[in-house]
Amino acid sequence: MKKYAIVLAAGKGTRMKTEMPKCAYPLLKKPMIAYIVENLKVSTLIDEIIVVVGHKKEVLKDILNNSVTYAEQVEQLGTGHAVMVTESLINDLEGDVMILPGDMPLVDNCLIEKAFKEHVERRHDLTVVTTRVEDPHGYGRILRDDQGYLDEIIEERESSASQKLIDEINTGVYIVKTKTLFESLKKVTNNNQKNEYYLTDIIKIAKTDKHVIGTYTLKESYKAMGVNDLYMLSVAEQILQTNINKQHMKNGVAMINPETITIGHNVVIEENVVIHPNTYITGNSVIKKGAQIGPNTEIHESFIGERVVCKHSLVYNSTVHEDTTVGPFAHLRDGANIGAKNRVGNFVEVKKSSTGKNTKMSHLAYIGDTTCGSNVNFGCGSVTVNYDGKNKYQTEIGDDVFIGCNVNLIAPIKVEDNSTIAAGSTLTTNVPKGALAIARAYQVNKENYIKGKPKTDEKKNK
Ligand code: UD1
Ligand code: CA
Repeated sequence: MKKYAIVLAAGKGTRMKTEMPKCAYPLLKKPMIAYIVENLKVSTLIDEIIVVVGHKKEVLKDILNNSVTYAEQVEQLGTGHAVMVTESLINDLEGDVMILPGDMPLVDNCLIEKAFKEHVERRHDLTVVTTRVEDPHGYGRILRDDQGYLDEIIEERESSASQKLIDEINTGVYIVKTKTLFESLKKVTNNNQKNEYYLTDIIKIAKTDKHVIGTYTLKESYKAMGVNDLYMLSVAEQILQTNINKQHMKNGVAMINPETITIGHNVVIEENVVIHPNTYITGNSVIKKGAQIGPNTEIHESFIGERVVCKHSLVYNSTVHEDTTVGPFAHLRDGANIGAKNRVGNFVEVKKSSTGKNTKMSHLAYIGDTTCGSNVNFGCGSVTVNYDGKNKYQTEIGDDVFIGCNVNLIAPIKVEDNSTIAAGSTLTTNVPKGALAIARAYQVNKENYIKGKPKTDEKKNK
């Protein structure tokens, strides 16, 4: 028997008050819908995932590509109607279907599997996943009979004052026999406050038609959070972040003020790393043992070697090898590959360049499109002049080169091993091995120059 999951994602997300379809909104840079689909994918219980799309469907299709089957709900007439449009895609009418809302990013694989298993073990025709929350506002409430059996779900809008006090809510997750589902759905009307076909109405209908209905109660109620507006989005994101950070801390990563630290899903951090406040590490970044990152640092899609210290800096798509220090206020980008024991100091930018070991660029330098060897010293204000307004050119620097302060290396240019460049030089031609290059105007001192000038006192009297 084939088991289907139906994810409802066709709604506009009116309460978000923006154009983007709600289920495409990102949490920690990952779209809401991707959380649900990924969890369903890892579950061995689900054979096929059908996502119902409608409003701005192409945005959701771009996210999920061909990893799922799509059903289209052209007009958004309610959650019951959204499930109706999947009927023609479900071939096996003997099986069970799990239905989930697309705005429930904290759902996990564990919840999916437990709820499904319970539904099967208890031989229910329909199981509603419920939970108890402190603030039930906005959710459908669970109504039970005198013996505590599930009766129906009443939407907030339709509920009386006393029903509003019920703190057991509908999570929006159901597991239901295909036959029961479509038989009941055909009886749903839109005779309610919103003139919508509510999926929640199938509970009462199924009960009346003598189907076996029941609930599965979720203990960790936060997993059921439905994200309806931007405030809830931020709350859900914070929960996700807290969980990720907690896992890293348990693995031996120290975090100072962890609530200010953002770590993406795919980041790998080894033990004995310290992360200081206001730090973002995202993409497929790797932070090796003993590194110290932050405060105020962004690392994206980068490799940070053992014992690297990186503070107040930006590192994008770059590699920093062991024992190097970066910052304060450095910017590494576009494949910068910094060797071991380097120093990349204050206000230094390195782009598409590599360095060997022990190279130092301690202050105010721009190094772009450069291949640089080991034991090189870039003086304060060194610049590789790589761009003529049209094209970019390469700079090649050998080992053991000393570059004085305020030097311009006009590329393309090659500076060979063991050479020295005098401070203030602007070089346009290659420097051979072991040479001293000086390219600056001679100083002229015009002696007694002061004589021709009026004395300070005379100036004042004028
Ligand atoms: C729904 C439930 C409510 C439950 C809550 C849990 C109904 C009537 N109410 O309310 O009992 O407590 O979820 O979070 O089902 N959608 C469509 N097509 C539509 C309408 C909605 O695909 O025509 C999709 C939305 O994109 C969304 C999901 O269904 O992902 C739920 O819709 P939403 O409007 O958020 O329902 P709630 O008001 O939260
Ligand atoms: Ca919702």
